[in-house]
Amino acid sequence: MEGSLQGQVALVTGASRGIGKAIALALAAEGAKVVLMARSQAALEQVRQEISSEGGEAHVFVGDVSQPEAAQGAVAEAVQCYGGLDILVNCAGIGVFAPLVETDPADWDRVMAVNARGPFLMCRAAVPVMAERGQGCIVNIASVVGVKGYVNQGAYTASKHALMGMTKVLAQEVQPLGIRVHVVCPGGVDTDLVAQARPDLGRSVLMQPEEIAEIVLFLIRQKGRAIIDQVNVRRRSSAPWFS
Ligand SMILES: NC(=O)c1ccc[n+]([C@@H]2O[C@H](COP(=O)([O-])OP(=O)(O)OC[C@H]3O[C@@H](n4cnc5c(N)ncnc54)[C@H](OP(=O)(O)O)[C@@H]3O)[C@@H](O)[C@H]2O)c1
Repeated sequence: MEGSLQGQVALVTGASRGIGKAIALALAAEGAKVVLMARSQAALEQVRQEISSEGGEAHVFVGDVSQPEAAQGAVAEAVQCYGGLDILVNCAGIGVFAPLVETDPADWDRVMAVNARGPFLMCRAAVPVMAERGQGCIVNIASVVGVKGYVNQGAYTASKHALMGMTKVLAQEVQPLGIRVHVVCPGGVDTDLVAQARPDLGRSVLMQPEEIAEIVLFLIRQKGRAIIDQVNVRRRSSAPWFS
C-alpha cells in the first residue's frame, strides 16, 4: 500500500476498538505495518481483517499492557514480523468512575496499572529497539483529565496525570536518542469508555475516534524543525481552554 508511512512499523495498544482501532486503521491506510495489541483476540482479528481488506498489513498480538512480559513480547513480535519498530501509540486505557473516597483500592490499582504502568512498560520495551536505529516516535493518549480534575473520575484522573508526568520525563530522556514523544489530551470521544464516564453527554456532541486518529497521524508525520509536544483536543460544544 502506498502512503506517507510506507515502510514504517507501528505498534498500537488498545487497537481492538474505539480510538486505538481508528488510529491503527489510519496508520495502515498510510502504508505502515501495524501490530495490533489488546486483550480481545476476536476483536483484534476483525481489525486485522479490515486492514487487510483495504490492502494494508497488520499483525495481532494479544496481551495485557500492564504485564511486563506482554509489553516485551509485543515489541519483540514487531521486530520479528516486520524487522523493527518506528512508531508506538499507547492508547489502551480503562476507567472507573466514582467519588474518590468511594473508589475501591483494587479499582484504583487496576486503573493505574493499565493507564500509567502500561505505557511505562511499553515505552521501556520499545525505546531500546528504536534507539538502535536512532529514530522513533511515541504518541501517548492521555486525556483532558491529564490536565484538569473531574469529579467522579479520581482514579482515572490520577492515572492520566501520571501518564503526563512520565511523558514529560521520557521526552527529554529520549530526545538525544532521536526519539520523539508526543501526548494527545482529548475531551469526550464517542467510544465505550465515554459512555461509562459521561452518560450525561449525548453522542451527537462527542468527537469521533477518526478525528483523534487524524491528529495522531499529523504528529507522527511531522518532519523538519518544528515539533508539537502536547495537543489538547476538545469537543466543539465544550468551553474553550480546558487547560
Ligand atoms: N473516549 C474518550 O472520551 C476519551 C477521552 C480522552 C482520552 N481517552 C483515552 O483514549 C484511550 C482509548 O479509549 P477509548 O475511548 O477508545 O476506550 P475503549 O473504546 O474502551 O477502548 C479501550 C481499548 O483499550 C484496550 N485495553 C483495555 N485494557 C487493556 C489492557 N490491560 N491491555 C491491553 N489493552 C487494553 C481495550 O481492548 P481490550 O478490552 O480488548 O483489552 C480497547 O481496545 C484510553 O487511554 C482513554 O483513556 C478516551
